[in-house]
Formats: sequence, C-alpha cells, structure tokens
Amino acid sequence: MRARVTTRKVLFIALLVSLLSSAMVTISTILLRPVQEANRQHYMHLNILKVAGLLQKGVALEAQLQQLETYLVDLNSGEFREVENPETYDLRKASKDPEKSILLSPTQDIAGIKRRAIYAPVYLTRDDNNRVNSIILPIHGYGLWSTLYGFIALQDDTATVIGVRFYEHAETPGLGGEVDSVRWLKQWNGKKIFDSRWQPKIQLVKGGVDHDDPGAIYQVDALSGATLTNRGIENLLKFWLGDDGFGPFLARVRSSGDRL
Ligand SMILES: Cc1cc2nc3c(=O)[nH]c(=O)nc-3n(C[C@H](O)[C@H](O)[C@H](O)COP(=O)(O)O)c2cc1C
Repeated sequence: MRARVTTRKVLFIALLVSLLSSAMVTISTILLRPVQEANRQHYMHLNILKVAGLLQKGVALEAQLQQLETYLVDLNSGEFREVENPETYDLRKASKDPEKSILLSPTQDIAGIKRRAIYAPVYLTRDDNNRVNSIILPIHGYGLWSTLYGFIALQDDTATVIGVRFYEHAETPGLGGEVDSVRWLKQWNGKKIFDSRWQPKIQLVKGGVDHDDPGAIYQVDALSGATLTNRGIENLLKFWLGDDGFGPFLARVRSSGDRL
C-alpha cells in the first residue's frame, strides 16, 4: 500500500532536514574552532620567525618558539611586561573592543584603522650573551582594498630593519599584492626607519630607489601600479613607529640599553 504524501508531511520533512543540517553546521563549527585557532597561531608564529630571519627548516616549530620572549606593551606609556600565555591575548579582537582600545582622531589615524588597542604584544630574541638582537612588532593598516596585517623586525638599535612581512591582505595580485614578493621584501633588510631626531622616516619610491642618493637608506622601491597600497604601507609604518604606536615603547627600549 502506498503511503499518502501530504503537504504537511513534505513540509515536516523539509523542516527536519533543514534543522538537522543547521545543527550539523553549528556542531562542526564549534568542534573545528580550536583547530582553526591552533592553525592561526601556528601561521602567526611562522611569520614572526620569518620576519626576523629566524625560521629554520627541519626544526620543530615548538623548539624554535622557545627563543621568543613575548611582552605586552602599554602603547600609551611604552611600559612592558613579560607574559606567560601570550596566546590568550587577541590583538585583533582588542583593537575592535571599545573597552580595550582607544578611538583615533582623523589626524592620528593615518593608518586607517579607526581604533588602536591599549595593549599590544611584542616579541624579543636574544643572542648568546643574552643581549636583545631582534624586536618584532605587529603592524596593520589600510591599503587600497584591505587592511594589511604584518610584522616588522628591528635590530636592538630600534632603527635598523631586519625584515617586514605581511601575512594577510586582499590587495590585487600582481599590483598591491606584490607586497608578498620575496624580491620586494628583501629590500627592507638593513634599511633605517627613524631619522636623527627619532621621527619615523621611510619612503616607497616610485620608479625605484636611486642607490647613490644619501636618502636611500630610508627608501625602498614602490610596488608598481599600486600608489594607494604604497601610501598605505608608508602610513601604517609611520603610525606604528610613531607616538601613537610603538614610539614610546621603542624609546624605552633605547633608554634601557643592556638592562632589557
Ligand atoms: C582591477 C584593478 C586592481 C587594482 N589594484 C590595486 C592595488 O592592489 N593597489 C593599488 O594601489 N592600486 C590598484 N589599482 C590601481 C589604482 O586603482 C590606481 O590606479 C593606482 O593606484 C595608480 O597607481 P600608479 O600611479 O602607481 O600606476 C588597481 C586597479 C584596477 C583596475
């Protein structure tokens, strides 16, 4: 005998299927969250080691991370303290939380980020004599289409660049997206990012740097066909190295000398 198909039955089954599917999606999202978070942290750690030129192939990441000391910096005062579980602090979340960030005025906000977290993590590494030999700072700011998130690594003089890299952005591949190009990134090593009065100074030069120019030490080649991405990178570096970014922290690093 054939069962009667009624509209009510069809609707009931459709409802049941959609409820089951949404429950499955919700459950898998919840179950996958720790895995996604672990992957995100793994990727961040890789980038921190890479920007400082420290990533070693064939050595377990966990072992390599031992060399990083993480500090949490009060960006207003530049004071910093070591943190034991840095992974519990989410800079991106804090930057959006009105209780954990400050609103930037239009004149302050040259990086186009609207709010700036009160605390930010920084990473230090030391040489065999226990002297700091790299300072790694998180940076972000608006390009043309997207916010670029990355790191800058500095030598202990706080002025000489070890490396710059962006691990997330949505600029156009081949144009602004060339921020990922190894050749472009290589130019940053050895550049100076502060002038003699400790004002941030870095220029992305359209048409390429003239290496005979005495100012070349503050300059890297601009990305071709990407004026707005270039401007965004210049501005975000000026912001994060300036008084509203890591400026007060870097001044403390300079004044603490060997005691750091
Ligand atoms: C499809 C498309 C993608 C673009 N992507 C970028 C980009 O990622 N970054 C950027 O600064 N300009 C990009 N531009 C170009 C800008 O719109 C603008 O023309 C450019 O900044 C001018 O740069 P130039 O003076 O260096 O040639 C793009 C343009 C088009 C049509």
